[in-house]
Amino acid sequence: MKLFNKVKYLICSLLLSVLTVHAQRSSFTPGEIWPDDKGVHINAHGGGILYQKGKYYWFGEHKVAGGAGNKAMVGVHCYSSKDLYNWKDEGIALKVSEDTISDIAKGCILERPKVVYNKKTKKYVMWFHLELRGQSYKAARAGVATSNNVNGPYTFIKSYRPNAGIMPFYPTGTPEEEKVNCVNPKGRSEGFFCRDLPGGQMARDMTVFVDDDGKAYHIFSSEENATLHVAELTDDYTGHTGKFSRVYPGKSTEAPAVFKRNGVYYMIGSGTTGWAPNPARWFSATSIYGPWTYHGNPCIGEKAEITFGGQSTHVLPVQGKKDAFIFIADKWTPKDAIDGRYLWLPIKFNGNNMEISWKEKWDLTTFDAK
Ligand code: DGJ
Repeated sequence: MKLFNKVKYLICSLLLSVLTVHAQRSSFTPGEIWPDDKGVHINAHGGGILYQKGKYYWFGEHKVAGGAGNKAMVGVHCYSSKDLYNWKDEGIALKVSEDTISDIAKGCILERPKVVYNKKTKKYVMWFHLELRGQSYKAARAGVATSNNVNGPYTFIKSYRPNAGIMPFYPTGTPEEEKVNCVNPKGRSEGFFCRDLPGGQMARDMTVFVDDDGKAYHIFSSEENATLHVAELTDDYTGHTGKFSRVYPGKSTEAPAVFKRNGVYYMIGSGTTGWAPNPARWFSATSIYGPWTYHGNPCIGEKAEITFGGQSTHVLPVQGKKDAFIFIADKWTPKDAIDGRYLWLPIKFNGNNMEISWKEKWDLTTFDAK
């Protein structure tokens, strides 16, 4: 190549890369690579989103390329956005520790981080599912970290199994057969509950929900993932009060995502098939503790039976739009975890019923056409 052509080629490639990195997005393309402001695919799996002072903050598991699989080698990644399409890399909000005896030692499993803001303490509180390094999925603990700034750094506080020694709360209407009897446990799940009663209940896939009155709840898969627990958090959101209910006992629900609409609580979850997708399931209730009514799969159309290849992680209420909720799911790629994709799809309501259908490409004006 002549010198002039070489220079021309270099300038063109430079321009192209600048344009690619800074091209503003104005739609969602579920399942495709989603570049951040640096042109790098967003790395925030099993995530949740917090809206604060005009910006959305997306927190999720930072995965690494290659053989580390699902191990946490870096921590919890944070991104920010004003429009939900374009995300700025805010860096690592919670770093795993280099100290091998730390609960969050590098190489632990740290999943599904969710951040909420506590108006009383003015702190940001991050909860996550934690498995101790080298113990696979045995520990089943809840972990908590706090920060004065939304994008961190977050300081790890503690990890434990919630509600040791405490029996469940039964909201009015709980069927008699769902009430736990540790003298004579009925079935597997109740057996696990009673086994874990002294040391605290297992806490794996999880979310955190803040209600209109400022009370926060930790909703997690417990009892070897067979039953969900809805557990009240303390006023500062960094501990459990001991009040909790059991939801859909023995029916193995993972990946809970909770939201509220017109005074009704909704939850979308999945079955338990590891990284492989299965049919989503949804529930509704008039009290956060339940009883929760099971309604089956909210997804319709082709691949609805595998949630379009994804697994729920969060439902995002869109600010400034009425009845606008986005279903957020992970399309896991366990062989190369960093390549996992995000499925964002609008939820359609019909009265109190919901439906989710596949869309190749869509934008927020979808919510205006009602
Ligand atoms: C499914 C869960 O939803 C994920 O968060 C993860 O724990 C995998 N199972 C592990 O197999």
